[in-house]
Amino acid sequence: MTLIAPSILSADFADLGREVQRVSSADWLHVDVMDGMFVSNISIGVPVVKSLRKATDMFLDVHLMIEKPVRYIDAFADAGADLLSIHLEADMPPGIRAALDAMDKKGVKKGIVLRPITAAEAVLPYVKDVDLILVMTVEPGFGGQKFMTDQLPKIQKIRQYIQELNPDCRLEVDGGVDPKTAPLVVEAGADVLVAGSAVYGAKDPAEAIRILRGQ
Ligand code: DX5
Ligand code: ZN
Repeated sequence: MTLIAPSILSADFADLGREVQRVSSADWLHVDVMDGMFVSNISIGVPVVKSLRKATDMFLDVHLMIEKPVRYIDAFADAGADLLSIHLEADMPPGIRAALDAMDKKGVKKGIVLRPITAAEAVLPYVKDVDLILVMTVEPGFGGQKFMTDQLPKIQKIRQYIQELNPDCRLEVDGGVDPKTAPLVVEAGADVLVAGSAVYGAKDPAEAIRILRGQ
């Protein structure tokens, strides 16, 4: 089944509780954390995740776009994240390992993320150990950007790795996913779709979620 994860980056932050209710028919809630270093933008942090945890029972899929994420794993886990995903470009391999170990200790699900420039092979040392691999189909940092079609072969390749090495691992795609691009990423092997503008920019978010699911 394809899971839909609306990104609250496109929501009205002044009314976040209501914005979360508007997408309650979705499967996961995607939360974009940006530190102004790993990406130029600054979005939200630990206190907001804590408030979201009180506002909803939805699965909180927290995408950490931060340098050396090992420093913040405990804080985001304690705030109530269900899954934390970290960028492979955000630290050296020992730092990535340490962050994944910290997630294990906290009992949260573990994800790794690839920027568009990063090759599919980069996931190989981690595939067996993670619950999710996230392929970015825009440069991370902002919502509302154009889907990068050149990432489709990478999604296909990672789907093959997952089938061979860890079939339970989820394959998520983030960036420019809308009713036109969703079928392409599903066809390539994705099973979790993040969508910011396509859901929050729609008149009826529940309808947009249904369309993205292919129903
Ligand atoms: C971008 C974020 C995305 C973003 C997606 O750095 O990781 O989650 O919110 O927004 P859309 O769906 O509008 O591309
Ligand atoms: Zn994201």
